[in-house]
Amino acid sequence: MSASDIVVAVTGASGVIYARRLVNVLLEANRTVHLVLSPAAGLVCLEELGVTIDFEQFDPRVFLDKDHDTGTLDRLKYHHYQDFNAGIASGSFRTAGMVICPCSMGTLGSLANGMSTNLIHRVADVHLKERRKIVIVPRETPLSSIQLENMKRLVDAGAVLLPAMPGFYLQPQSIDDLVDFIISRICDHLEVDVQLTKRWGSEN
Ligand SMILES: Cc1cc2nc3c(=O)[nH]c(=O)nc-3n(C[C@H](O)[C@H](O)[C@H](O)COP(=O)(O)O)c2cc1C
Repeated sequence: MSASDIVVAVTGASGVIYARRLVNVLLEANRTVHLVLSPAAGLVCLEELGVTIDFEQFDPRVFLDKDHDTGTLDRLKYHHYQDFNAGIASGSFRTAGMVICPCSMGTLGSLANGMSTNLIHRVADVHLKERRKIVIVPRETPLSSIQLENMKRLVDAGAVLLPAMPGFYLQPQSIDDLVDFIISRICDHLEVDVQLTKRWGSEN
C-alpha cells in the first residue's frame, strides 16, 4: 500500500492564498497533510491573508477556510521549520509527494544547491534523492539567469516546476477561479482526484 501523505511547504513568496487553498483541498480529498512554513512565509501570511502565524504554538485553524469542516483537522500535521527530527525529514518516511507553494527564489536557490538549512530544504532534498514527486510552484517576476538556472537544475533532478501562472482561457470570474486553476494543476501532478475547474476540451 502506498502512502497518501502529502507535504505542503509554504515559503516567503507572494501567493500564500494558493497554499491555503491547497491545504483545504487536500484535506477534503481525505489526504493527510504535513505542513511546514518558513519564517518569511509568516511575513507574507500577515501581509496577504491578515493572519499571524505562531510558529511555536501553531493553530491549524488559521490556515483553513472559515467554512472548512474542522473534522479534518486531525489529518493536518504541522511541523516547525527547524524540526529536523520530524518523520518527514527522513527518506524512510513514505509520502505521496511534496509541494512547495509558493516557492521563493531563496528556497529555490537553496534546493538547487543542496543546502538543507531548514526542514523545507531537507524534505525537498529527500524527495529529490528518493525520486519522489515534488512539485515546485515558484513566484517571481521578472527572472534572472541565476533563477532560471536554478529552476533547470531542479527540473533535471526530477522536480515538476509549476509556476503560479494561471491560464485565462477558461474565462475566470474571480481570484478564487485563478487560484483553483493552479491548485487543479498541482493536484493533477499529485494524482489527487479533484474537480475544481472546467477542463479545456471537456463538457464539465
Ligand atoms: C510580503 C513579501 C512578499 C515577498 N514576495 C516574494 C516573491 O514573490 N518571490 C520571492 O522570491 N521572494 C519574495 N519575498 C522575499 C522572500 O520572503 C525572502 O527572500 C526570504 O528570504 C525567503 O525565505 P524562504 O525561502 O525561507 O521563505 C517576499 C517577502 C515579503 C515580506
